[in-house]
Amino acid sequence: MKILIASSIYPDTIAELSLRHDVICAFGADEATLKRQIAGCEALIFRSGVQITADVMQASPGLGLIMRAGSGIDNIDLNYVYENRIKLVRIPGPGAKAVAEMSFGLMLALARNILTADKLLRQGHWAKHELTGHLLQGKALGIVGAGNIGTRVGRLGTAWGMEVLGCVEFPSAEAAARLSRYGIRLVPTEEVIAKSDFVSLHVPLKESTRNLINAEYLARMKPGAFLINLARGGVVDESALYDALCRGHLAGAALDVHKYEGEGKISPLAGLDNVILTPHMGAGAIDSQREIGEIILENIDAYLTESAEGEMTFDLEMTVAV
Ligand code: MLT
Repeated sequence: MKILIASSIYPDTIAELSLRHDVICAFGADEATLKRQIAGCEALIFRSGVQITADVMQASPGLGLIMRAGSGIDNIDLNYVYENRIKLVRIPGPGAKAVAEMSFGLMLALARNILTADKLLRQGHWAKHELTGHLLQGKALGIVGAGNIGTRVGRLGTAWGMEVLGCVEFPSAEAAARLSRYGIRLVPTEEVIAKSDFVSLHVPLKESTRNLINAEYLARMKPGAFLINLARGGVVDESALYDALCRGHLAGAALDVHKYEGEGKISPLAGLDNVILTPHMGAGAIDSQREIGEIILENIDAYLTESAEGEMTFDLEMTVAV
């Protein structure tokens, strides 16, 4: 089978696939390149950082299997996928573990000024008595989007002795019961925003969440609170965040995702000392990527078996593998 890999995935997985298939790698390519490279491909594998448009998919009429090697599906034309009955497999589980741990890494780094301490010490400045900071224990952690990843962050928060508040798109008694098992209290979004010392974002990017964290929501955050975004850049209004940080209303922010991402892009927040910026690496832990790679291999095999047996199942809902 001919497979296009449009984003960097676990190297051993590419090597394994290449032993048995005709594999083309075009990482982060533009639309014109993807349209050229996808010709004749039956399967496509991608992550964030690339746009899988209808035009790209149309360039390979035999495309039958698409694998999202991770969680977000904001960069693929889902209408085209459904209309053309292409099997779409999402693999959100392994990356969720890495993103949840990284949320904590960023929270700790913000709370204890770890990056500033490192920078000053490299300049020979022993800032022991200037850099104090806060405990996480006893603080309120707000999860905006208590789904797969958000719930994991909440569980870590509970273990850390934080009071954890969470909100979901469709609140219900079932959602409240599910979250309360992990020590997360389901409350309206406004309450998460207003009562949390650390607000961690974990919603997918869609029309209802674009610029969700705008000037109004930022103003409602507790003075001295911290904002952590490992969701999607488009969820936060970056210029409103810049103002909130400059005014000192927020103590700091950490952003793994940005409005504009990729080589050469510099965030408008880059000049602020109370901001941590990382290059959309939340899901990038080796363990998670290895696990995603194993699931990709299983799904390619399953797809080939199903097609050989003429038993292709098509579900309008996408398949979620782990
Ligand atoms: C994801 O949605 O899984 C993450 O953004 C990781 C990625 O694909 O790069």
